[in-house]
Parts: sequence; C-alpha cells; structure tokens
Amino acid sequence: MTTHPDSALAGLLAEAQEFGETIRKDFPILQRVLHDDKPLVYLDNAATSQKPQQVLDALNGYYERHNANVHRGVHVLAEEATALYEGARDKVAAFINAPSRDEVIFTKNASESLNLVANMLGWADEPYRVDADAEVVITEMEHHSNIVPWQLLSQRTGAKLKWFGLTDEGRLDLSNINELITEKTKIVSFTLVSNLMGTVNPVEAIVRRAQDVGALVLIDASQAVPHMVLDVQELGADFVAFTGHKMLGPTGIGVLWGRQELLEDLPPFLGGGEMIETVTMGASTYAPAPHKFEAGTPPIAQAVGLGAAIDYLSAIGMDRIAAHEHTLTEYAVRRLLEVPDLRIIGPRTAVDRGAAISFVLGDIHPHDVGQVLDEQGIAVRVGHHCARPVCLRYGIPATTRASFYLYSTPADVDALIDGLHHVRNFFG
Ligand code: ALA
Repeated sequence: MTTHPDSALAGLLAEAQEFGETIRKDFPILQRVLHDDKPLVYLDNAATSQKPQQVLDALNGYYERHNANVHRGVHVLAEEATALYEGARDKVAAFINAPSRDEVIFTKNASESLNLVANMLGWADEPYRVDADAEVVITEMEHHSNIVPWQLLSQRTGAKLKWFGLTDEGRLDLSNINELITEKTKIVSFTLVSNLMGTVNPVEAIVRRAQDVGALVLIDASQAVPHMVLDVQELGADFVAFTGHKMLGPTGIGVLWGRQELLEDLPPFLGGGEMIETVTMGASTYAPAPHKFEAGTPPIAQAVGLGAAIDYLSAIGMDRIAAHEHTLTEYAVRRLLEVPDLRIIGPRTAVDRGAAISFVLGDIHPHDVGQVLDEQGIAVRVGHHCARPVCLRYGIPATTRASFYLYSTPADVDALIDGLHHVRNFFG
C-alpha cells in the first residue's frame, strides 16, 4: 500500500470516519462514557479487540439453547454442539483458505499454538526432531510467546537458538539470512506483524530460504489475521498460529493451522480424552489430526463465538478493513510525528506496517503517558508489550502503544493527539 497526498488523504479520512461510525453501532462497549463525561476512545486493539453484538449473541445463544459436550453424546444437544463446534472449524478453514478443515487445530490462544509446535518438534522423530545438533531461528521482534517456547526447547534439547536482528527503522535485518538459516535449521518461527512496532515482515524471502535448506516455517499471525486477508496457501509456511480474541472473538480460543502431512507425522503434546483412537493399560493410539492435538473438552462456546466473529469480518470484507486501517495508520503516523519530542519506535510510514504504533514522548515515562490519557478516556497500552528484546534493541524501557481496528475513526486519532498535547502540558 502507498501513502497519499494530502487532498487524497482528506477524502479517505471522511470515508473512514463514516465507516468507523457505522461499525461502532454494533459494539455496545464502545458507547461507554468513562470518568463521568469522557467517551471511551479504545486504542488497545493489539492487546484485545472489542466484541460486536453478533458475537455476544452467538455466545449467549450457544449457552441458552445448545450447550453440551462435543463428540461424545448421541442426544440432540450433543449433536447440535458438535455441529456448531465443527462448523466453526469450517469457518476458520475457509477464512484462511486452508486446503482442508482437518488442518485447523483449536487451542486456547496463540501462545498455546506456538508452544504446541515447539513441543511437537521436541518429541518428533527425524527428520523433524529438534535435538542438540539442530538450530532454531526466530527474530528480535517476537512477542515473548514466540521466544520463550523456543528458549525452553533449546534448553531442554541443546539446540541452538539464532535471531534475526532489527534495522534502525524497525524492519527485520535480512542481510545475514544465509548465515542464520542453514542446513542445520529445523524451524524458522517469526511474526507476520510486530505487536510492538506494527512492522509487516517479508514472508516470501524467509520462506524461500527456509525451503532451500529444508527447514519448516511457523508464522505467528496474531496481529495479522484480524487485519488483513491471510491465505495460508499463498503464505507458503508450514504452520500459522493466531488467536481469537484479537479478531472480535472471545478469549480462550486460538488456532494452529498446519500442513496435513506434518500433522499426520508429528506427535501429540497433550494427552487425554478425545485425542485417542484406542487406549489400553499398555499404550494408546491416536485419533487423526486435528483431534490428535485437542485433548480434553475443547473451548466449544469460544469456537462458536470465533465463528460468529469470522462471519462478521467476512461480511464486511478483510480488504475493506485493511484499507480502512491503512488510512487510519497513515493519518496517525503523520499526526504523531507532528507532536514535539515524540519518537515512533518502528516504521515512520504506513507502508508495510500494521495499525499498532508505539512511541516515546520525550522523557515522560510511558506509564505516566498512559495514566494521563486514561483520565481523558483514552485506552492505550504501555510497557514492553511482551516484546522486551525490541525495547532493549532501541534502548528504551517501554513504549506507549496506540492500536487501531475496524471501528476506529480519524476522530479517535485526533483525540489521541489532543491527549498527548495534554500530557506534555501536564508534565511541563
Ligand atoms: N499480545 C498482546 C499485546 O501485544 C497482549 O498487547
């Protein structure tokens, strides 16, 4: 996507205001007024999204009419609950263009999806097994959920953990890609969109190099799936992880997509009910994927809620949502750069960047920035955003992060900018 001249941007902003205002009507929480008279300006969407009435109704409707356990009963409710749960899997598969619904595993969240892959590889046979001779490659811009599982795996197996570095502009430094990804690499795991900086990463170059050396690729798409068209077949990765609550769905539901032949070959991680074929006191055999990876009662209502969220996003169109957020991001970056002493951590243009924008404001601590913004009804996230290596790379303890979604408007950006001027005045 490109940046626009001022006149073109003005037209897009008017459209974005109307679009956001229309969408907002579906989100009861966005009507809240805080601190007596401050309308909520919700700019913490990278942490979690709000939920439209349609998702709330789907959750309630499930519990009011269909609640039962899945895959276990012959009674009407059990069959309805199973059909709803498996129907949600169909919706996810279609949304990400998975070749087969059996490639969609439901988990608790993206962290569980990423941990699942790390554990599959730790317990796998050759050629997938991560052992003391193996290397795993991640990046310095990962969320802790795509760092710690690999640190645990390397501590337990002796495998070497290697990292892509970052450029001063907040992009991945690919200059040493051939030294990082080698014949020893078993898996490359990286985020599609940085949760802290908003950077959109160059998937193709990394996938190509990984395929050249026979390494697997896992993409953390938690900050991507809610905001753009994502087609797992086009991405070319072997696994894609994401979470439901950032894409209008409830908490407690995540997804791991994996190539069917890999899911057939790789071992389960959690054992329990519903993931087995037969059990004797001596040993067990396992159900085919995805059930092999879904031990225990799954997050049924949460899957139904995620299905409703997918229906909602699909009816609007992910292209339309991406274009809306691009306009907001372009406007927000421009306006933020006009605030004195403000430094954006990450790309300073809207090109190849998502709608999460981190910044520091002079020497005012981000927690103070967040507190004064909150007094004005503006919700942002402050801290290291579970991506502390990024803060270390840029020599800062923390950032303030504003992140936009389909119901955000240019007026929200204006409120943020006014709020930041107020913060500056407050701290002299
Ligand atoms: N991963 C979420 C964030 O970045 C919680 O805020």
